[in-house]
Amino acid sequence: MVSFTSLLATFVVVASTTVATVTPKLAEQPVITYLGTQGPILSSGAFTTKGIVYTAGTVPSLNGTIVSGGIKNQTAQVIKNIAVILAEAGTSWDYVLKTTVFLANMSDYTAMNEVYGAMLPTPKPARTAVEVGKLPGAFLIEIEAIAAIPDK
Ligand SMILES: *[C@@H]1O[C@H](CO)[C@@H](O)[C@H](O)[C@H]1NC(C)=O
Ligand SMILES: *[C@@H]1O[C@H](CO)[C@@H](O)[C@H](O)[C@H]1NC(C)=O
Ligand SMILES: *[C@@H]1O[C@H](CO)[C@@H](O)[C@H](O)[C@H]1NC(C)=O
Repeated sequence: MVSFTSLLATFVVVASTTVATVTPKLAEQPVITYLGTQGPILSSGAFTTKGIVYTAGTVPSLNGTIVSGGIKNQTAQVIKNIAVILAEAGTSWDYVLKTTVFLANMSDYTAMNEVYGAMLPTPKPARTAVEVGKLPGAFLIEIEAIAAIPDK
């Protein structure tokens, strides 16, 4: 029977050989890929890291209440809320690899994009933006993010 100590020793050896150094995405060049005739696609880099955090779909709430002021204000609130989640997970918007933006109305895309573009660091994460039939509350936008957790 393999002892716990030897298993642990094996694990430590394996773990120490797989430690990757993550550099902030800000310091990276975005990766441009080409997919047939679809034109240049910003793929926003490839990361190898021990830690990845997936946020839940995050809504424009402040202390449990949906903020007023329309799509721009709601977009800003979601981005701030995700920043808090990422900070708690030991990372930040600088390390976000991918976002998905759910809009209640695709007519809000341009206004959302204005706020999103101004608030997020560049290069931007890869993004998917879709209109959904319904969001589960009286809000206009929900965003989820996937971020790398940098080494300390
Ligand atoms: C949200 O709740 C916190 C903690 O109760 C409070 O300090 C803060 O002022 C509240 N913010 C707003 C905008 O109501
Ligand atoms: C925008 O949202 C903030 C909270 O993020 C809120 O304090 C403010 O009243 C809202 N602005 C408008 C115009 O509704
Ligand atoms: C989406 O927004 C447009 C422009 O404000 C509006 O004309 C349309 O009725 C909205 N669609 C829905 C389903 O609310």
